[in-house]
Amino acid sequence: MIATPTKTPHTGQDYLQKNVTQTTELSPNQCLLPLTAKINHQDHLEIGGCDLKTLVEQFGSPLYILDKATLTTACRQYRDYFKSYYQGESQVIYASKAWSSLAVVGIIASEQLGFDVVSGGELYTTQKALTQLGCSSQEIAQKIYFHGNNKSETELQEAIEIGCTIIVDNWLELETLTQLAHSRPNQPIPILIRLTPGIECHTHEYIRTGHLDSKFGFDPNQLEAVFTYLTEQPSLNCKGLHAHIGSQIFERQPHQDLAVVLVEWLKIGQEKGLNLTELNIGGGLGICYTEDDDPPSIEEWVKAASEAVMKACQRFDIPLPKLIAEPGRSLIGSACVSAYTVGSRKEIPELRTYIAVDGGMSDNPRPITYQSAYRIVLANKMSAESSETVTVAGKHCESGDILIKDAQLPQTQPGDILVVMGTGAYNYSMASNYNRLPRPAAVLVHNGEANLILRRETYDDLIRQDCFPESLLS
Ligand code: LLP
Repeated sequence: MIATPTKTPHTGQDYLQKNVTQTTELSPNQCLLPLTAKINHQDHLEIGGCDLKTLVEQFGSPLYILDKATLTTACRQYRDYFKSYYQGESQVIYASKAWSSLAVVGIIASEQLGFDVVSGGELYTTQKALTQLGCSSQEIAQKIYFHGNNKSETELQEAIEIGCTIIVDNWLELETLTQLAHSRPNQPIPILIRLTPGIECHTHEYIRTGHLDSKFGFDPNQLEAVFTYLTEQPSLNCKGLHAHIGSQIFERQPHQDLAVVLVEWLKIGQEKGLNLTELNIGGGLGICYTEDDDPPSIEEWVKAASEAVMKACQRFDIPLPKLIAEPGRSLIGSACVSAYTVGSRKEIPELRTYIAVDGGMSDNPRPITYQSAYRIVLANKMSAESSETVTVAGKHCESGDILIKDAQLPQTQPGDILVVMGTGAYNYSMASNYNRLPRPAAVLVHNGEANLILRRETYDDLIRQDCFPESLLS
């Protein structure tokens, strides 16, 4: 079975999943296009039963197109594989930093996942969506884990009010929480302790977090003191430990090593008298952005992590904790594509041909930030043979605003629909209004229906927060 395309795709068609049998389910993170991608009789790309050219006519471009089936499949796979491979209790929580919005939270909550939030804003969004879904305040509290290396006192108060678990990152936070707890006798605040496990993994240095020189979490040599502090603070209910080692990881070994480090610390904490029953191993599973990427499937990752935790618990002779994982990218990354309209063209003889699209670094800052590679197709010419090498530029006043260098494409015309694959994670959530471009709309596609989940920003939205001081008028 081949989930990713042939090594050198010549047409858009080559990017569709190949040789997929009815009985094997694909792992969304190993696919370049969403699971429902098809080519229709007009030679157009269709996702979730919707023709992308029609979607752009209806909703404009740039447009994020989120495929519900791919997202729910990834949620279900994570949830069910943990149930099959881990013999204790498990919980999958979505790292909402990948894409936080009411609809995204709504879909993921309907698959019974919880949420990792990292700011008051993500907490607010998640709480609003869960309330809209009819969750009780107790359910909301149980579903949310609040992260961050510098949470403000206001954010901590908001989290305490909601009753969610706070993942404590440092001494200042521990002390602030202890003080805030004084006003709530007999209502201990649920927390986990985040530690830096000292594990290296091969990914971009900006998205590596588990090595010792990281701004996140307690250094291991602080942990004994943290445990002692916690035994003296009945107002804090420390339930367990957390670590996250990085993102877009293709190896399984780092998470297996992490399991051993975390379980050992869990035992040390238990021996100090703390009732530690939860272990959160973070996220980090990578996805395919190009045909060269080779991440493990969701099943393989869950199996490796589950077995490593169970083995370590046996080795250190402790009962199986509740195992929590918090993936972001591998849940939503492959479920979305971005559609642009092709505009101007610049040919520099014997050097390069640029084609420009109507978005760029403001809706996808990953190429300029991490030199990330992406793959593209022309959604209205899926079977046309590639005939030229082009560099796809954004429309921002910045030379580095290049979405894809040296891409193979059929001859393009202004008005063609260019689709970038794998844009579900860290695109909308990192989008900006640079050059005062309104942020794009997003639609959810499913069974031939398209529903707006983010309205396109207007010029009025752009100036909504601007203030014009009286003094400028005199
Ligand atoms: N948990 C924690 C504590 C994290 O910091 C992260 C990601 C995750 C979970 C989810 O990791 P994932 O499963 O998505 O790999 N903006 C970068 C990615 C930054 C990731 C930050 N932390 C990018 O666009 O590649």
